[in-house]
Amino acid sequence: MSRTIEISFARSAKPSDELSVLLAADGGRLGAAAQAVDPSGVLARAFRISGFRGKARATTEIVAAQGSPSDRIAVVGVGDPASPQPDGWARLGGAAAGQLGKARKATVFLDVPGIEIGAREAADFAFGMLLRAYSFDRYKTKKGEDDANGAAGKVAVTIVAAAATAAKKEFAAAQAVAEGVLLARDLVNEPANLLGPLEFAERARELGRLGVKVEILTEKEMKKLGMGALLGVAQGSVRPPRLAVMQWNGAPRNRRPVAFVGKGVVFDTGGNSMKPASGMEDMKGDMGGAAAVTGLMHALAARKATVNAIGVIGLVENMVDGNAQRPGDIVTSMSGQTIEVLNTDAEGRLVLADAIWYCIDRFKPAFAIDLATLTGAVMVALGQHHAGLFSNNDELAGRLLAAGLATQERVWRLPLGPEYDKLIDSKNADMKNIGGRYGGSITAAQFLQRFVKDTAWAHLDIAGTAMGSPATEISQGWASGFGVRLLDRLVRDNYEG
Ligand code: BES
Ligand code: MN
Ligand code: ZN
Repeated sequence: MSRTIEISFARSAKPSDELSVLLAADGGRLGAAAQAVDPSGVLARAFRISGFRGKARATTEIVAAQGSPSDRIAVVGVGDPASPQPDGWARLGGAAAGQLGKARKATVFLDVPGIEIGAREAADFAFGMLLRAYSFDRYKTKKGEDDANGAAGKVAVTIVAAAATAAKKEFAAAQAVAEGVLLARDLVNEPANLLGPLEFAERARELGRLGVKVEILTEKEMKKLGMGALLGVAQGSVRPPRLAVMQWNGAPRNRRPVAFVGKGVVFDTGGNSMKPASGMEDMKGDMGGAAAVTGLMHALAARKATVNAIGVIGLVENMVDGNAQRPGDIVTSMSGQTIEVLNTDAEGRLVLADAIWYCIDRFKPAFAIDLATLTGAVMVALGQHHAGLFSNNDELAGRLLAAGLATQERVWRLPLGPEYDKLIDSKNADMKNIGGRYGGSITAAQFLQRFVKDTAWAHLDIAGTAMGSPATEISQGWASGFGVRLLDRLVRDNYEG
């Protein structure tokens, strides 16, 4: 169940009478806090019996022995202090949140021999707890009954750390990012009958309360702008498209903005080139790019990032009514370039063609990064643990790779080049919307590149990472919110101040 975790930091605190959480270094070595929590020392025996050795993110728990102030004690391993892991503290926090069970009050003691736990680490730990606690249970009417985690509702967590005061400050920003990730997950999880283009646009509009300037372009306005590629996808649905434009101005006006563009196909049937029935339900997540951009804008605004950032999301539904576009149709994009639509299921690139062009044309950003659940082929190439990265700019690509390693929202660069570009030349128009049998993610990226002019640009194909994701320490699975942490980190490390 989704649990609302209320986190506070303290330099010292009494153990909770319900649950205390301890950390253990490799070998099962405990810090000084263990004394108060487990005066009888029975934990050492429990470690021996269960084989718990304090390996990173391993957990064990006991019903506390007589004399302990807590009913239950959970222990999370931090492993070898000499080999810290990327994003380790968030993942430890996630592992700890997995131990909350039905507790309504818990105390976590961030104290372990041989490791200095500063404000950053403590805040990251709390951040990981928030991410792990999320699950999509809005439409479950019986909360907390037959759930694996066995609990619903609020839990008050006190994190005891030497750096409590500074950690609290750090945590304010981390909480903003967590909200952004959870917003993205919510949008991806939401079924398409309840989240169409209009409803999604309203969710974007809600960012207004954080100081984000939001404009919503209607179908009529997009027609006037000549967005024939995006509109061609939308024309088979009774629900009209929208383009949402979000602006966060956190830096002086004269600073060039950075821009993010998202594919927001609220449902992808494939259109007339229809997808098979099996697994089609997953296509409610085909707006993962737009969700990440919206979540990112939330994060940047909520933590008052000192950057000017633009978010543009193209919101359409790829359906198949009597007016749906046909294979062979030729549409004219806002850029003036014509596109022969040979496969109506390659719709994401059509939406992005106009959204990217519009964004670059209007805002002249320092760079534009688009995110899209664009191709099944990227999963064939990279599986579910790296997003595909394509870029015309080595510096931007390098920064994305670094942000990916730091957050563990990893990306892997794939090539672009004229030989691939040629594959989307069309007999009847300027280009066609599919390449041949091979390199499907690359030809999709080549298609997008025809709409970026000379702007520094990166494309992230997140089909394998944003939806259908495996559970991890910090996610219960399916919708991961991929992209929010990655891009927040990219901005934080390179484009603020
Ligand atoms: N939304 C899909 C890609 C996708 C597939 C995302 C599986 C997540 C999971 C996209 O619109 C699509 O249908 N792509 C086609 C392109 C093909 C027709 C060239 C694909 O990947 O098969
Ligand atoms: Mn498709
Ligand atoms: Zn799609």
